[in-house]
Amino acid sequence: MARVGIDLEAVESQLVKSAESLYEMLDKLLPEKEGVLEDRLIEAMRYSTLSRGKRIRPFLTIEASKLFGVSMSSAQRVAAAIEFIHAFSLIHDDLPALDNDELRRGEPSCHKKFDEATAVLAGDALLAYAFEVLADSQTHQDSGVRVELVRNIAQVTGFRGMIGGQMIDMLAPHNTMGFPEIVRLQRMKTGEFFAVSCEAGAILGKAPHSLRNALRTYARNIGIAFQITDDLLDVEGNRDITGKNVQKDKAQNKATLVECLGIEEAREHAVRLARQAVEYLAPFDSRADVLRDLAEFVIIRQY
Ligand code: IPE
Ligand code: IPE
Ligand code: MG
Ligand code: MG
Ligand code: MG
Repeated sequence: MARVGIDLEAVESQLVKSAESLYEMLDKLLPEKEGVLEDRLIEAMRYSTLSRGKRIRPFLTIEASKLFGVSMSSAQRVAAAIEFIHAFSLIHDDLPALDNDELRRGEPSCHKKFDEATAVLAGDALLAYAFEVLADSQTHQDSGVRVELVRNIAQVTGFRGMIGGQMIDMLAPHNTMGFPEIVRLQRMKTGEFFAVSCEAGAILGKAPHSLRNALRTYARNIGIAFQITDDLLDVEGNRDITGKNVQKDKAQNKATLVECLGIEEAREHAVRLARQAVEYLAPFDSRADVLRDLAEFVIIRQY
């Protein structure tokens, strides 16, 4: 059924509420200092994970889980694992060897707060810990479901997905890449991880493959739209609102759709992707309205 308008304030306030409740799960799952030499690692893991993120990927997991009646505790454990992997990706993305960014979420990035060795290790430890959490029987009673989560999340994180995309991002000066190559880069770097974050709810709920694929495709599209918006915010955004230094992509010769198409066309493409994304939610009733509204949020956000 067609909907009249979208409720952006509602989706933003749900995002904030969901982030607050996820904070408790993240805090509970993260290790505490134990008076041992490696406490510094734990401090860095906690610093980078508990800082003020939007928590949009875990939100996808939790909202998709709700569509299939998954228990909140299972959904939140998977959402937390997803956020640990995201935190790992940001810590490493900011390192001098990659984007060399000193500001993250309005605070010094991990290697500035600690040092490079600690940041590399904290990222590694968060990545490994995410899979420990996913594989734990508290995440889901069915080991088949846990294996499915581990396999799918590992695939989109590794060389075929986010980490492969980060490699391309480092290798490819913008003038060597056209539209299809940049879309592929953004799909690998960001789109596939959004896709699995949402599909994870359907995996937990043992949903049929048709619904899994619908959610996956919806979220892949909003993930790419999200990355285009991130690239637009790098050009037009405000550091005090985004919590990140701006005007860096051009200086670093990054291949973005903003560089390739120009600001207006890049924005139009993000809008197109968000509209397409919503079409994949057709099999779901009004309980998916928050996901419909989220598609709009990702393209108009200022942070
Ligand atoms: C930043 O992701 C990295 C991108 C893929 C653009 P977010 O914008 O979701 O970062 P936080 O978690 O809200 O800080
Ligand atoms: C990073 O993209 C994507 C990741 C997989 C971490 P960016 O490099 O554009 O993200 P920001 O702008 O530093 O958050
Ligand atoms: Mg980067
Ligand atoms: Mg970066
Ligand atoms: Mg960016």
